[in-house]
Amino acid sequence: MTEQPEQDTTLERIRLWDPAIRLFHWALVLCVIAAWGLGEFGPDIMTLHFYFGYAITALLGFRLIWGLIGPKVVRFSHFFHGPKTTLTYASKIMQRKPSYWRGHNPVGALAAFALLGLLIAQVASGLMGDPDDYINVGPLANWVGYDNATMAMNIHETLAPLLLLLVIIHIAAIAFYKIWKHEDLIKPMITGWKWVKKAEDN
Ligand code: HEM
Ligand code: HEM
Repeated sequence: MTEQPEQDTTLERIRLWDPAIRLFHWALVLCVIAAWGLGEFGPDIMTLHFYFGYAITALLGFRLIWGLIGPKVVRFSHFFHGPKTTLTYASKIMQRKPSYWRGHNPVGALAAFALLGLLIAQVASGLMGDPDDYINVGPLANWVGYDNATMAMNIHETLAPLLLLLVIIHIAAIAFYKIWKHEDLIKPMITGWKWVKKAEDN
């Protein structure tokens, strides 16, 4: 029913997510799982952890550029909905029907910002961090000085469980949309295609 709403003339099926953003997302998922797992459970010599960390840094660099010059729905300016729209959306979030939102919905956009922001803090603190073990020294640790490098490492270790928590919330929200609101957000992130409300101009 809600998955195939062809009869509803207020809706249209569009290629919402471009190939680059989809590739970015799934590459990010793989690299973050690998970096997190290696950081927490990997060997003492963290070369592989560093490599995945560099890959994530590059992915985030791409995302920042794409957020400025990419297609409209992935631009950061498109994410800003303001408190009124966000609160109105949030107050109706429990309704058992799809949002058909064109892009990240106002609450999802906050989550996307939080995830991207936390990931930036995680890679920045990793790059600057020095765990004082003479092996796993971040490439920018000497540049920021010993005290800052030690602080960066503490931040890195503190943010790691927060990142895990946010990812769990992220996946729970996707499951909530699928199970409660009958809206599959995963398929559009794979194929690009999504049913959305017809737009005025976006
Ligand atoms: C390490 C794990 C993950 C991280 C760090 C992550 C990160 C993100 C980020 C940053 C976005 C916003 C995309 C953008 O840049 O515009 C996003 C969106 C999304 N993610 Fe994830 N993600 C993770 C795991 C997953 C998993 C396992 C799934 C599938 C079950 C998933 C499904 C989605 C979907 C469907 C969206 C788009 C939501 C919407 O329609 O607004 N993610 N994710
Ligand atoms: C999003 C990317 C990253 C994630 C998810 C991540 C995650 C983690 C985790 C979970 C730990 C273990 C923390 C603990 O023992 O409590 C860790 C440790 C560490 N990470 Fe990362 N990390 C990332 C990126 C980086 C980067 C880019 C670098 C440097 C190039 C880096 C350098 C380190 C170092 C040196 C440690 C060892 C800390 C110690 O021995 O006490 N990380 N990371």
